[in-house]
Formats: sequence, structure tokens, C-alpha cells
Amino acid sequence: MRTRSLGPGATAVGVVGYGAWPLSDGAPRPREDDAVRAIHAALDGGATLIDTADAYCLHEGEAGHNERLVARALSTWRGPREEIVVATKGGYTRPDGAWVSNGRPEHLRRACDRSLAALGVERIDLYQLHGPDPEVPLAESVGLLADLAREGKIRWVGLSNVSVDELRQAREQVAVTTVQNRLNPFFREAVADGVVAYCDQEGLGFLAYSPVGGGRLNKKLPAIAALAPIARRHGVSHHAVALAWVLAQGTSVIVIPAARQPEHVADSQAAARIELTPDELATIDGTEFSIA
Ligand SMILES: NC(=O)c1ccc[n+]([C@@H]2O[C@H](COP(=O)([O-])OP(=O)(O)OC[C@H]3O[C@@H](n4cnc5c(N)ncnc54)[C@H](OP(=O)(O)O)[C@@H]3O)[C@@H](O)[C@H]2O)c1
Repeated sequence: MRTRSLGPGATAVGVVGYGAWPLSDGAPRPREDDAVRAIHAALDGGATLIDTADAYCLHEGEAGHNERLVARALSTWRGPREEIVVATKGGYTRPDGAWVSNGRPEHLRRACDRSLAALGVERIDLYQLHGPDPEVPLAESVGLLADLAREGKIRWVGLSNVSVDELRQAREQVAVTTVQNRLNPFFREAVADGVVAYCDQEGLGFLAYSPVGGGRLNKKLPAIAALAPIARRHGVSHHAVALAWVLAQGTSVIVIPAARQPEHVADSQAAARIELTPDELATIDGTEFSIA
């Protein structure tokens, strides 16, 4: 698969990675063997980046559920494990299924130790702050990530759900490798607010989350007429065209689509094999992707 750099001094990864969240979500949660099959489909198809988080679970009692699934899939995969980058996150808890920020250093330290155990590794490849905690100065959360990197518990540091100002501030304390923000044809704020341009300029990897629009909006893609001729020309699905558009938003962009179904995984990976023309990109730029 075509690759891009994950960030300064970091390895290159396939431009279509894999986001594992829905494998631990409800509505309905897949059987564990099916979840492992979906992850294997991504790896077999050339994905070399898997995104997970301690908080990808239904409630706090099963924190680390998604990380344990990823660990199980990797331990039973026949390919070269050492080529796979696992990215996880800390900074949220899930009391009664709610999403509650916790960026306090003592929490992040505990969360990182728990993620190390759940993933069954001595060092996490990429550890991301899931999002700034409004109750905690960013410098305190980032300072703890810097400590974890110094101690060798994490190899690379990432930030998620951040602005350019927050990134600049964090980079005064620690070498940031990646940024993970939302980017898809429905939600383009990462382009509008300059985060993608900043990552391009600084050589940071930009991990586009919910790249086909997320669990609800992705279902609207097949009905978007403007995508049909483009999909036909390239011999791919509307979803793959959407992913190719996201990849074209910056030289730093890597997409991490999720899929429970192996055929969706393969379908999305076709985005790595096509390049949209300037006219096709302009058509998608000018198309309304309604979120109603
Ligand atoms: N940092 C953050 O705050 C944050 C927030 C959200 C997500 N994320 C990360 O980003 C990853 C992806 O985001 P997401 O799960 O929100 O949304 P997404 O990847 O945009 O959408 C996932 C949904 O799209 C469907 N899908 C994907 N590719 C398809 C294809 N080629 N054809 C048909 N359907 C397709 C999947 O269906 P099936 O399941 O039926 O296969 C799945 O339900 C997550 O898993 C997570 O790792 C991070």
C-alpha cells in the first residue's frame, strides 16, 4: 500500500489505516472472532496503522476492551507484527457509558500503564492525548506525556482534537509526532482551521478520524450523485472516493476508517490506489454533504 510518514523521525505507514472503535461499540457489538477477522482483513490488505483507545468500550468496567481485541488480533496474525504501528489514547473515562474527560497527570499515568497491559507490550508505539481536558491546563497533560516518553513507556506522542494554538503550545514541551482530528466530506473544519496545513508544513502525521463520516453519515455517501461518475471512472465505491478526497486534503493525511465488515475494509483500501484529478477534487469541494 502507498505510504506516508507518520511524523518527524517516525516510520511510514499505509495511507489507509484502520480504526478499531466500532468493534467495541454497541449497536450491535460484533462477536470477538468477527472483530478479529475485521482487523486481520485490514492487516492482510496492507494497513500498517491500527487506532484504538482505552475508552473504546461500553462502560468503565471494561476499559481496554478494544485494546485487548487489537492485541488478540495481532497475536493471531501471520504477518510481520513488527511492521504494525498501534496507536492508542488516554484522557477519557466511561462512567455508565458517558464520555468524561480526564487529562490529569495521575490519571494519564494510570491509563498508560493499563494500556500497556491491555496491549501486552512494554512500550506503546503511539500514545495520544484523546483530547484536551477543559478542567486541566494542557501543559499538565502534555507534561505527563513527555514523562512517559522519557521513561520509555511510549515511543511517539500524539494529540487528538486539538487546534493549531494547542499544538504549538504542546510542541514547546514535547516532540509531537501526530495529530488526530475529524476530517471527512461532511465535516471539513480540520482544513478550514488550518490544522491540516500546519501538519503538512511541520511534517506531522495528520490522522483523519471518522473519514467516511462516522457510523451514521457514511450511509449517505451512496446517495450523493456527484460521487457517482468519479466512482465509476476509478472503478471504486463512493466510500473509497470520499477517502481519496480526504487523503488529497494534505500531504500529511492518513485515514483511519473503521469497519466491522471485512468487505468494507477491502473496499476502503482501494482509496490508496487511486488519485483524484483536480477537476474531481473541485467537484467534491463544491458538493453539499448534508448532515441532516
Ligand atoms: N480521536 C477521536 O476523538 C476519535 C473520534 C471518532 C473516531 N476516532 C477513530 O477513527 C476511527 C474511524 O472513525 P469512525 O468509526 O467514527 O467512523 P468512519 O470510519 O468514518 O465510519 C465507520 C463506519 O463506516 C462504515 N464503512 C467504512 N468503510 C466503508 C465502506 N468502504 N463501505 C461501506 N461502509 C463503510 C462502517 O460500516 P461497518 O461497521 O458496517 O463495516 C462503519 O460503521 C474510529 O474507529 C476511531 O479509531 C477517533
